[in-house]
Amino acid sequence: MTQNVSVVLAARPNGKPRPSDFELVEETLPELAASEILLKNHYVSLDAGFRNWMDEGSGDDVLPAMPLGAPVMGLVLGEVLASRSPEFAPGEMVMARLAWQQYSITDAGDFLVRLPEKREAPLSYYVGVLGDTGLSAYFGMTDIAKPRPGETVLVSAAGGGVGSIAGQVGQILGARAVGIAGGPEKCARLRTELHYDDTVDYQREADLDSQLRSACPDGVDVYFDNVGGALLENVLEHINEGARVVSCGAVATYGQPSAGPTNLFQLVTKQASMTGFLTHTRADRYPEARAQLQRWINAGQIVVPEYCKDGIEQVGPAFCDLFAGNNFGKTVVRL
Ligand SMILES: NC(=O)c1ccc[n+]([C@@H]2O[C@H](COP(=O)([O-])OP(=O)(O)OC[C@H]3O[C@@H](n4cnc5c(N)ncnc54)[C@H](OP(=O)(O)O)[C@@H]3O)[C@@H](O)[C@H]2O)c1
Repeated sequence: MTQNVSVVLAARPNGKPRPSDFELVEETLPELAASEILLKNHYVSLDAGFRNWMDEGSGDDVLPAMPLGAPVMGLVLGEVLASRSPEFAPGEMVMARLAWQQYSITDAGDFLVRLPEKREAPLSYYVGVLGDTGLSAYFGMTDIAKPRPGETVLVSAAGGGVGSIAGQVGQILGARAVGIAGGPEKCARLRTELHYDDTVDYQREADLDSQLRSACPDGVDVYFDNVGGALLENVLEHINEGARVVSCGAVATYGQPSAGPTNLFQLVTKQASMTGFLTHTRADRYPEARAQLQRWINAGQIVVPEYCKDGIEQVGPAFCDLFAGNNFGKTVVRL
């Protein structure tokens, strides 16, 4: 009789999530049904985007709204402990969109991606730099932004899971990378630890435009946008002819009334593009993308910051940390 602790959605967050929106619930694991597998989860990945499906009536074409009282949907990294599926064998490691739980029972119909058998990186990297966030940075930069040497790449939420990798990939491709983050300390860490060429502190709202002009004196060729809203509106005023805006996410608008952008006409006058994407739709290319990221890590070209907590009780607070900007790098909880 194995006990399983889950983090359930106790209340729908009002704006930014708070730790009290989440509760721990303990239950006995049921027997496996035919075609199901049992995972022991080693890591929970905290991803700001899941805030989108916590509101009443928020379901869309991608995912349904999360029910109150049910385990919170999210990404986990687990080991197959038992299997009644012909597709998975005990001992295999998978990354899956399931729920914030110590153990998961699922069938192969869910979003499950196998980890390679031979792994060169710590396990946590497979939900970070080699998982959804690093792969978002990789696909957004290499498929959509395609920076050319000497161009300026501007990245918002530059100290987060996606942003910490996006700027470095931009630099590897020959661009100058400028990071936007909240506060002087985080901006300093972007420059010293992640080697961003320059930074912009979005919390200094009064001089945001002059900071953008000073950090991007030749204008912005690529805006890798994780934030959306009013910040996107500000940045659009600084884009160059032919700029590419990559819409990876919009954390400023999750659960908040959206302000802006009201100046999308900038895309017309600058003959610029704005392209959104969903990383999980490129799952067939994960092996190729992971291999390239791994080569860059091995060559010391990518630094991998992690914000790691321990224990299932830390999962809800760690999710809230993403919205308070407490994290630096990919946020994970080790179980
Ligand atoms: N398209 C895809 O397939 C895909 C996949 C994964 C993630 N994403 C998106 O990528 C973005 C980053 O996600 P993540 O999970 O890796 O989170 P994260 O970047 O690790 O953390 C979020 C960061 O956003 C910043 N932030 C929070 N609220 C903000 C606000 N109101 N204005 C400006 N900055 C704010 C905080 O840093 P500061 O201290 O700088 O405020 C925080 O560290 C999200 O928008 C997410 O939805 C998209």
